[in-house]
Amino acid sequence: MSTEAPAKAAPAAERKKFTTRSFRLKKNKGEPITMLTAYDYPTAVAVDQAGVDSILVGDSLGMVVLGYQNTLPVTMEDMLHHCKAVARGASYALLIGDMPFMSYQVSVEQAVANAGRFLQEAGMDAVKLEGGVERAEAVRQIVAAGIPVMGHLGLTPQSVHQLGGWRSQGRTASAAKRLLDDALALEAAGAFSVVLESVPDRLAEYISQRLSIPTIGIGAGVGCDGQVLVTHDLLGLFDRFTPSFVKQYAQIHEVMNAAFTGYIEDVEDKRFPAEEHTVSMKDEQWDAFLKEVGDAG
Ligand code: KIV
Repeated sequence: MSTEAPAKAAPAAERKKFTTRSFRLKKNKGEPITMLTAYDYPTAVAVDQAGVDSILVGDSLGMVVLGYQNTLPVTMEDMLHHCKAVARGASYALLIGDMPFMSYQVSVEQAVANAGRFLQEAGMDAVKLEGGVERAEAVRQIVAAGIPVMGHLGLTPQSVHQLGGWRSQGRTASAAKRLLDDALALEAAGAFSVVLESVPDRLAEYISQRLSIPTIGIGAGVGCDGQVLVTHDLLGLFDRFTPSFVKQYAQIHEVMNAAFTGYIEDVEDKRFPAEEHTVSMKDEQWDAFLKEVGDAG
């Protein structure tokens, strides 16, 4: 178990660290909270420097970085490894580590211990976990240990099999009522915020107005207190599919492809490496070398 504290990038003078309190203040002022995912150092630096309020090291990394079909195979060690890299790159954003499948479901004690590892070993400021009423006790105990918790309701990817696939949630009156009850239970348990994923916009807005803590929407409409996207989706970097609620701001996959094919062509046509990419040696040293090895040249 590593106890080394992740080193931080140098802070710019005027920007202050975003905290769970800043989350609440933004909601109270009606200012949208921004959140993006990151899984590595360079992305954390870029997202943080762009000015995002919060970075989620999501277990979506299992799909968009590690290539699994869903998030279920992701382990605590995977999460801590990526959280440490993100913590080394980000100075201002509130850093939230996503608790992976089976790291908080077995017992409340295990949930508290695993949540603690995100802060103690990986430089996170808070954790996120999926579920509502059935997770309220775990949330209560994690919060009691001094660890801020973000909830996650609606399409909860770790329950993909139980939900019968990647389906929107809360679309019937009874499902909507359950979702509201779950959100209220998380708030009562001390969660500082709740992600609402793929739920009807009018339900998300209603829940956002009923809660005193901020909601962060993904596929949940503009009525949430903030928004989150998976950065690889936003950048056009995940090749398998793009959920309909994603807005793509770039096509990085195409940019990468053009760069890689350009490199291959340059190498094959001997345009790379050119003189400026090459280490030189003075003639007299070269001649001395040839003499040394007994080669007349
Ligand atoms: O893992 C993740 O990236 C998430 C977001 C989609 C909220 O949970």
